[in-house]
Amino acid sequence: MQLLQERRPLLIGHRGCSALAPENTIPSFEHALQAGVDLVEFDYRHSADGVPIVFHDDTLERTTDAIARWGGRRTRVSDHTAAEIQELDAGAWFAPRFAGTRVPTLLDALEFICGRGGTALIEHKSGEAQTLVELLRSTGFLNRVVVISFDWQFLRGVHALEPAIVIGALGDPLRLADGRTPQGLAVPLLQKLSPEWLDLMNDTGARVAVWHREITPEAVRLAHKRGLKVWIYTVDDATTATELIAMGVNGIITNDPSDLRLTIDAGVVRTHRLPRS
Ligand code: G3P
Ligand code: CA
Repeated sequence: MQLLQERRPLLIGHRGCSALAPENTIPSFEHALQAGVDLVEFDYRHSADGVPIVFHDDTLERTTDAIARWGGRRTRVSDHTAAEIQELDAGAWFAPRFAGTRVPTLLDALEFICGRGGTALIEHKSGEAQTLVELLRSTGFLNRVVVISFDWQFLRGVHALEPAIVIGALGDPLRLADGRTPQGLAVPLLQKLSPEWLDLMNDTGARVAVWHREITPEAVRLAHKRGLKVWIYTVDDATTATELIAMGVNGIITNDPSDLRLTIDAGVVRTHRLPRS
């Protein structure tokens, strides 16, 4: 994948452009593409009937009208079919002008993003590897996506089924490539990216370490030495982005790519904003 060869830091839209549009929806992806992102990040999980749909939380109430429509207090994505979930409004909670926005399926998201020449950063939240690999093969977008997960055992499954898929190990992980949890290890690991984490990431097939902001210049150097790129989530201020770029990180994942675009391009801190007229 050409993006992994770039020397400049990559700009990655988190849940699309979730500062300006309802997260994980087509309007959010459209904003992100208009902002000129290198990759559009989004989350997917399986519905009750096994359809991969684009959704972050394991319950529906924060970002849809599920409670207003169906009653109750909490309702899980995995208890509803894709058709039921797609009846919901996933935009009005964010702003009235997004009313009527639907929850996309993973296929909808890929067709929209990759169909417009974009690259998708697909974060797995639930569902087994086989379904994802088959879907990616059927779309022909295998080389236009990067697959990431906090579940490193899932990543190992994807890599075994289809080594051509570019994988990013998301950390710190919930589950390691051998199925253990980090808490189950004899020596507890710190959250910071460390040589131990890089060792454990080895058999996931990862080409990218996707880490939170617990990062050091030494860790970035070590990751690079092992041939890994380092992408950091979630960064919404220019100062932090500039510090991370100075450390040598290769990608910044942000909720507002339109705001960080100039910083990433210039590699400079904007010390002040122009007053609004
Ligand atoms: O891009 C990685 C980041 O999205 C992981 O956290 O909770 O926002 O999916 P979360
Ligand atoms: Ca995510």
